[in-house]
Amino acid sequence: MSAVSRFWHPVLRARALGREPVQVMLDGERYALWRGAEGRIGALVDRCPHRFAPLSGGHVRSDGRLVCPYHGWRFDQAGRGESPSQPELRRCAAQAMQAVERDGVIWLAGQEVPMERLPRLGAPGYEAGGVMFQRFAAPLHVVLDNFSEDEHTPWVHTRLGWREEDVGTIGFEAENFPDRTEVRYEARQRPSALGGFFGIKKGDHFHNRWTTLFDPVRSIYEIHWTDASGAVTRPGRLLAPIFMVPLDAGSTMMVVFMFVRLEGALRRLGSLARRAALMLIQREIRDDARFVPALAETPMTMQGMRLGRFDKPLIHNRRLLARIYRGVEE
Ligand code: FES
Ligand SMILES: [Fe+2]
Repeated sequence: MSAVSRFWHPVLRARALGREPVQVMLDGERYALWRGAEGRIGALVDRCPHRFAPLSGGHVRSDGRLVCPYHGWRFDQAGRGESPSQPELRRCAAQAMQAVERDGVIWLAGQEVPMERLPRLGAPGYEAGGVMFQRFAAPLHVVLDNFSEDEHTPWVHTRLGWREEDVGTIGFEAENFPDRTEVRYEARQRPSALGGFFGIKKGDHFHNRWTTLFDPVRSIYEIHWTDASGAVTRPGRLLAPIFMVPLDAGSTMMVVFMFVRLEGALRRLGSLARRAALMLIQREIRDDARFVPALAETPMTMQGMRLGRFDKPLIHNRRLLARIYRGVEE
């Protein structure tokens, strides 16, 4: 069974869907999304049941039905179709999906997926700072590997985290669970121009903790800073649920939500700090997106790799990817 028929996936920024239908790609299949009757979002496999024309190339009627651009068949949100030239024709249904709008994006799932499986984002005290989409020209397992370790920080990144001279002092813990991995890094924060928004001082330590889950594939990052002793926590914190959505066998969409928690005097920076946080994560993710395609050929098996201690979560994540997300028993 495909992942789409078991889990909700974020597929499009909500404001990118206006009056015209839009095509999205998810795990090798194309879907047509549109806003239909009463503003409800419709989602059909993007292949007309008549002669397979892409429905996303059509238009939306005033009654909210989606019209195929080839011979004008029209479809409602349940996928029920009708041919204008042969109204008596039966079995004209297109394959319908569930689609909902939440947290600024459109989520897609097969008909059987319960609503309760829609991931809840955010946490108490945090405010939403926006969402970004970044395409990676690499398969899902390669992108997952990259987001399973921070060892690459000094070489791939330039803002969050530590510099090469501090790699000998990294604090690191990783724990594997039957349904997830939990990872923690700590090291001296490199000098950063954006530090003022989050109350970071020179010599502070950067803390990055995350949990990786597979229903669907995502890592939830929690980032904060402390003084060097760890006794004083700075007043700005970031929470970034990052979804890794397979588009096809060779590319993956990262959907990154940003939440910010500010305390004390920092609160007055509110929207400015949230914008800074989104910009910061945008640039970090772009750094990854620039590098990761160089790894696109990495095979599913890790055979022959000389893995080190920072790679412990990678090994477990690959297993959970197969078992939970792909539903493949070992
Ligand atoms: S292919 Fe869609 S109506 Fe003919
Ligand atoms: Fe990275």
